[in-house]
Amino acid sequence: MTRARSNDPQLLTPSLRLPAETALEAEIMQQREWQIGIHWGVPRPGHPEGPVFNHILEVLKNVELLDVDAKTREQLRIITLTHDTLKYLQPPLLDATRSKHHSILAHDFTAKFVDDPCVLKTIKLHDEAYFSWRLIYRREQRKAGEAKLARLLDDLGDCLQLYYLFFWCDTCTGDKTLEPVDWFESMVPDIAPLVFKKKDHDQSEFLGS
Ligand SMILES: [Fe+2]
Ligand SMILES: [Fe+2]
Repeated sequence: MTRARSNDPQLLTPSLRLPAETALEAEIMQQREWQIGIHWGVPRPGHPEGPVFNHILEVLKNVELLDVDAKTREQLRIITLTHDTLKYLQPPLLDATRSKHHSILAHDFTAKFVDDPCVLKTIKLHDEAYFSWRLIYRREQRKAGEAKLARLLDDLGDCLQLYYLFFWCDTCTGDKTLEPVDWFESMVPDIAPLVFKKKDHDQSEFLGS
């Protein structure tokens, strides 16, 4: 596996549109699986933006809207960079264990570089809240959906708030409905409400847009 040879993130980025901020981000971006994965995807329901790379940019913009501390921002950026990037390796048909779901593949990939349990849990479980909502509101399986949510909250433990922040950042993209986030907020009263940066924050400084 190719490893980053420099600590200068700017030398290792795939594009000026997505500059690495840390040596860790640069190392992740240097990996062949990551570089292949960001180009996967065509416009489709939920993801009119097409390739994963464009989705990552959208999620990172949302991360910038949140008023969070530096550590949380770093965590959210790492999760954003990897959570969907191995979709290209997910088989079209998953077996019952879903061991090749892209969230599991992303978790295993990221675990080579990161040992933060909340980052890894959030990556691994990032689609579970949506799947719980979908069971209830799209597949009319309320009991199964609520049981799935209960398992998710159990698995998350102390990582709940980070998960919620990422769930919001990931959902406010493409043409996705925000109903799953609204539902999650109503079902999980323990989460702290989102806090946004002041409106006069100059978004034009971010990502050159
Ligand atoms: Fe995903
Ligand atoms: Fe995503």
